[in-house]
Amino acid sequence: MADSILFTPIKIGTIEIPNRFARAATHDFMAARDGTVTERQVSLFKNLAKGEVGLIITGHAYVNPAGIASPYQTGVYADHCVEGLSQITKAVHKYPSRIFLQLSHAGRQTKPKICGCTPLSPSSVYEPTFEVRPKEMSQKEIKGVIDDFIQSGRRAKEAGFDGVELHVAHGYLLSSFVSPYTNRRKDEWGGTLANRVRIVVEIIQGIKGLLGKKFPLIVKLNSSDFLPEGLIIDESIEIAKIIESEGADGLEVSGGMAEAGKGSVWKGLRPEEKEGYFVDNAFKIKAELSIPVFGLGGIRSFSVMEKIIEVGKADLISMSRPFIREPFLISKFRTGEIKKSECISCNKCFNLRGIACAELKKEKKGRTVNL
Ligand SMILES: Cc1cc2nc3c(=O)[nH]c(=O)nc-3n(C[C@H](O)[C@H](O)[C@H](O)COP(=O)(O)O)c2cc1C
Ligand code: SF4
Repeated sequence: MADSILFTPIKIGTIEIPNRFARAATHDFMAARDGTVTERQVSLFKNLAKGEVGLIITGHAYVNPAGIASPYQTGVYADHCVEGLSQITKAVHKYPSRIFLQLSHAGRQTKPKICGCTPLSPSSVYEPTFEVRPKEMSQKEIKGVIDDFIQSGRRAKEAGFDGVELHVAHGYLLSSFVSPYTNRRKDEWGGTLANRVRIVVEIIQGIKGLLGKKFPLIVKLNSSDFLPEGLIIDESIEIAKIIESEGADGLEVSGGMAEAGKGSVWKGLRPEEKEGYFVDNAFKIKAELSIPVFGLGGIRSFSVMEKIIEVGKADLISMSRPFIREPFLISKFRTGEIKKSECISCNKCFNLRGIACAELKKEKKGRTVNL
């Protein structure tokens, strides 16, 4: 399998990724209480690099304490976070892998007892899953958040990351700005599509302006909110075009919002022909762009991955859960040891004490009992 197109390099902006495999951003619930990096995280990322993942994207790191989504989440909100983050990049860069930090603000998808404030949102639209009536952000607060993202980008570069990914998906703050459902503003930050995407544009311009055009920046974007009045693919295509024209170097296509009852992490094993639940949307977006596009969503089989790249539906294959179960998945693909991830998409890996494959543990326990 080593001679597959999946093992050919690709450029994201100025840097080369050694193969077509990306580890999609995965919040690991392993940071310290204040968001600083732990040894467990260093070892997690080291294993992914050792396992030959071409591009590793970290879990969403909060750019301001008001934007924390959950306990034990990685923070990049202050300069004291840089030291720990640089331990991760040092461990990864012993291998050919590249690593991007995902920058995020939870917006209205958090709770006051987690973020210590009234959660922020472009408009005060009630969030039923978190039972939160968020605060409509003032102009000053919007400018403050833009600066938080820019300064966090600077910290990522100082910590040795090869690039950053802006989290504009899954209903978090930037996603709630681009969505017509959660953004009902009448000023320059809402209404038209150009106004709704303005916050993302200003962050891209700010990061590229401060760190140079050559510092890679990619965006994870919702292709659908799965809400009747939410973002739909046609608008997402237009947003992607704007993001590209502002200098983004790649686009990862996702979807979903907490309250839609349909998020980004779909449960249940899918037949091969249904793997890649966001890949058709990625293909629609890719048709309008020149930058690399990442295909995502329940992709598990090597043959499916190969076909996605060969027919040009996407340029890179992103996966999250398979790497929780099998950090060495890619090296096993390369040697031909396996042809499919064993992940059954049961979602039992979400664990406040740190992500881990519960199924694998169960199987190992079963094996011990049988002996
Ligand atoms: C435990 C867990 C944590 C996740 N954390 C993030 C995150 O921090 N940022 C993000 O954009 N997506 C996150 N996701 C979503 C994944 O990046 C990915 O989009 C989704 O799981 C679908 O891919 P998969 O079928 O290969 O798992 C997470 C998924 C899982 C399972
Ligand atoms: S618990 Fe294991 S098998 Fe289930 S989704 Fe998570 S990684 Fe996959």
